[in-house]
Amino acid sequence: QKVKEESVEFLIPSYACQRRTSLDNHNTNFTDALSHLAENAELNNEDGRAVAFRRAAAVLKALPVKVTSITQLRGLPCLGEHSQRVIKDVIENGVSSEVESTIHSERFKALKLLTGIFGVGAKTADRWFKEGIQNLTQLANSGHDLNRAQQAGLEHYYDLNQPVTKAEAEAIGDIVKKAVLDVLPGSEIILTGGFRRGKITGHDVDFLITHPDEGKEVGLVSKVVSWLTARGLLLYQKNTRNSYLESEDGPAQPPSNMDRFERCFSIFKLEKKEIPNRNWRAVRVDLVVSPISQFAFAVLGWTGSKLFERELRRWAGQVKSMSLSSHALYDNKQCKYLRATSEEEIFTHLGLEFIPPSERNA
Ligand code: GTP
Ligand code: MN
Ligand code: MN
Repeated sequence: QKVKEESVEFLIPSYACQRRTSLDNHNTNFTDALSHLAENAELNNEDGRAVAFRRAAAVLKALPVKVTSITQLRGLPCLGEHSQRVIKDVIENGVSSEVESTIHSERFKALKLLTGIFGVGAKTADRWFKEGIQNLTQLANSGHDLNRAQQAGLEHYYDLNQPVTKAEAEAIGDIVKKAVLDVLPGSEIILTGGFRRGKITGHDVDFLITHPDEGKEVGLVSKVVSWLTARGLLLYQKNTRNSYLESEDGPAQPPSNMDRFERCFSIFKLEKKEIPNRNWRAVRVDLVVSPISQFAFAVLGWTGSKLFERELRRWAGQVKSMSLSSHALYDNKQCKYLRATSEEEIFTHLGLEFIPPSERNA
């Protein structure tokens, strides 16, 4: 599958995990349009449609040139009829009329605003929208009982919708590292998520923690959370215990792509002297603890992008008859787990060329 640019042809394989996708996107006009339609589909709980648009956008992100003519798309994978129509519209008119009417619709605007509240998903937002709630004031006046996450989300709405910078992520990293080493010397902590892929801003900061002695890491999240809480550094936190059990006779199958690590979804209070009157801002922080034996899988699973992860699991299942999670890789033919101590080894098990984090921006 190739794209023609003059006499040059580029090979674009169909799974995003077979390709390199840097942050240098030459086709933002198309990928933004397709991402809006994907987002709209997600807000409507149309998962299949959303993934189709995300895959189409990812193919365009991987192209080394800017697309200017529809004929360049011939032979490219993952571009369905609908996506091609959108791309054609953008080429010919600068914008897609479907995208324009979608993003300016009352429904899209309201659902986006409401799901922008930490703790509010598409289903809740849709229910509220159907009751006539379209903004934060209407929500606050509606008399709805908000759960603890949503209350915190509403309270810190502005801050949590401001991009987090790399510098802020590093400042939080320094503090969390101090906490981790204080409660369990010898622990290791890495920045994962978008920042590990080289993004300069993010919607949150993701940390993965482990300890070289298997088992020592048990209970680490709550100790770190206590350390941070004692110093007034958390505005919200929700802890989850590790619920992953590797069974003897088959792969552990989490119900979705949610993993079962010990983790904490939190809102961090980051000191910022330059913010007047307040001297701090709120930042979403995810803390995940993995046993060292699963660490490579956890690093791979928490580095993203979301589509890259989804494609890795699809490749594993469809092409290799394997089940990949953030805990392990199971070979369904050999009926055994495949061990790995590095991301490189996992790619090798999967029969894929190694793609470094900075090229997983699908
Ligand atoms: P921004 O935060 O928006 O900059 O992008 P991001 O890529 O960091 O996204 P996010 O923080 O949402 O997720 C980071 C990575 O962790 C992504 O690859 C997700 O697929 C992964 N992730 C998020 N939640 C879970 C989860 O519950 N289980 C697993 N296994 N992975 C998750
Ligand atoms: Mn993130
Ligand atoms: Mn996250």
